Amino acid sequence: MKVFAILAFVLVCAAPAWSKIFTKCELAKELLAHGIAKSEIPNWICLVQHESGFNTKALGALNSNGTRDYGLFQINNRYWCQGSIESSNLCHIKCDDLLSDNITAALNCAKLIKERRGGTFEAWYGWLNYCQKSLPSVSECF
Ligand SMILES: *[C@@H]1O[C@H](CO)[C@@H](O)[C@H](O)[C@H]1NC(C)=O
Ligand SMILES: *[C@@H]1O[C@H](CO)[C@@H](O)[C@H](O)[C@H]1NC(C)=O
Repeated sequence: MKVFAILAFVLVCAAPAWSKIFTKCELAKELLAHGIAKSEIPNWICLVQHESGFNTKALGALNSNGTRDYGLFQINNRYWCQGSIESSNLCHIKCDDLLSDNITAALNCAKLIKERRGGTFEAWYGWLNYCQKSLPSVSECF
């Protein structure tokens, strides 16, 4: 019992060091600070909510083809970043950098993915499946 109590305490205290879960408004402000247009922020928030649950350390399950998705924007390691499998590494970054609490690298990569899709969010199933009919309001964040 004592061991469990100590273990639980250690886990709870250590959690912030290995995982940052943004709130909606925290991320909205961060996106604004990174130059994302206010009108686009609800799309990004909706996408992140459904892709990673706002968790910078989100690591997707291993797909049957051996690829997996990394971080807030669930970016795939076959095309966009270099991890443990062969990759086109179009964002010129290590996949682990997509798990940082500093979202700069992940956001820059996500911007490139969006640009390659003609400026749309259609590369993300989380967006395609959940964000086309309605978007979250972020007006209370600013
Ligand atoms: C790998 O599988 C995932 C999930 O099914 C899919 O989204 C992705 O396009 C596949 N990638 C390749 C290179 O086949
Ligand atoms: C976040 O990362 C970027 C680029 O990787 C760097 O220029 C910037 O200083 C970092 N910001 C903080 C707060 O560490």
